[in-house]
Amino acid sequence: MAAPSTPDLMSTIVSLAKRRGFIFQSSEIYGGLNSCWDYGPLGVELKRNVKEAWWRAMVHSRRDIVGLDASILMHPDVWKASGHLSGFTDPLVDCKNCKERFRADHLSDLKTCPKCGGELTAVRRFNLMFKTFMGPLEDDSATVYMRPETAQGIFVNFLNVQQSARLKPPFGIAQIGKSFRNEITPGNFTYRTREFEQMEMEFFVPVAEDEQWYDYWKHARREWYMSLGIKPEKLRMREHAKEELAHYAKACCDVEYEFPFGWSELEGIANRTDFDLKQHSEHSGKSLAYFDEETKQHYFPYVIEPAAGADRATLAFLVDSYAVEGEGKEARTVLRLHPSLAPIKVAVLPLVKRDGMPEAAEKIYADLLKNSVRSFYDHASSIGRRYARQDEAGTPYCVTVDSQTLTDETVTIRERDSRVQYRVPAATVATTIAAKLKEASA
Ligand code: GLY
Repeated sequence: MAAPSTPDLMSTIVSLAKRRGFIFQSSEIYGGLNSCWDYGPLGVELKRNVKEAWWRAMVHSRRDIVGLDASILMHPDVWKASGHLSGFTDPLVDCKNCKERFRADHLSDLKTCPKCGGELTAVRRFNLMFKTFMGPLEDDSATVYMRPETAQGIFVNFLNVQQSARLKPPFGIAQIGKSFRNEITPGNFTYRTREFEQMEMEFFVPVAEDEQWYDYWKHARREWYMSLGIKPEKLRMREHAKEELAHYAKACCDVEYEFPFGWSELEGIANRTDFDLKQHSEHSGKSLAYFDEETKQHYFPYVIEPAAGADRATLAFLVDSYAVEGEGKEARTVLRLHPSLAPIKVAVLPLVKRDGMPEAAEKIYADLLKNSVRSFYDHASSIGRRYARQDEAGTPYCVTVDSQTLTDETVTIRERDSRVQYRVPAATVATTIAAKLKEASA
């Protein structure tokens, strides 16, 4: 059985995601809401695992990075200082005939509608920030914005964090959280959405060290995707041309993944210089300069920012792990997810629903749960179909209780990728699986 061809692969993934409970369309019973998606029981585990892997790599395994959880709504002056109120815009045109809206920078002909051939309006700038009102008045004085990036919560807290945690550059502040952008053309499933989750880290460095840290983070972030199983040939680094750079950046490089819809950004690593700390100092009247105890000088550190999308990374892991293997009765669909990302780590399967097998399986299941190994118990249908269901969910291990278990208290462990099976004592299943998971994530 062959994997679907590239154009069909995305629709195959979208339907697998729905069928297996990874991702559903938001408000589906009302016809859905464009570009909004809900993560189901398997999807929420996968995305949590992606975020946890990022937090482990960026915070828990490092001595120079701490975490932050800032609010989504911030003082509106933050967005004046950051440049988002004036500069965070996309150019758009409308078709005067069919009323379709396009991003002007995505069109080669700015006069003719690519859909109906009608006449296009002049290019207008469209601010991507979502506006809302704080409190009971709906006027300009009550206007606040849904943050378009988590980074600003880090910049405005720079001195709070640096002083309370007693940090000295180079050091980083990491944050995972929702951001919102009123994209003109969202699309490609969960790739470009108006509500999304970011995993951002601002790394504050002495001014003279910016280029060395920029190179360091470009390398480290590419490695992170590969350490979690992304195929190297599906990743590439793309340095931005000068005219492409965001208003705050001196340099930026994207980690791109080759999705079925083409090479697209997973993460941007930017050199934001001292732009943000200086802007907030100027607009707030409170200096965010760092005081260097050794030189007795104040200075504004430069900032290297690896900014990743949690939804984009989750989609990339889903797409990259998808495989269709074998022929005829041997054919199967499998998600070869890295064990530390797999939503379910182990499925416990009694071969039949009688002869004491469910009881023995239940004991193993309880033991796994007690050891906090995310597990699943399944006694419905044939063993072959149960293995197939777990392969499709990306479960790396299946434990099968059979008639031999009742005589010698051993069970079978089946590995998802190789389909190799071997017996271990039932009493050691939880520790064996925990050790395998640890080894895989080392
Ligand atoms: N903080 C960079 C970005 O949101 O793209």
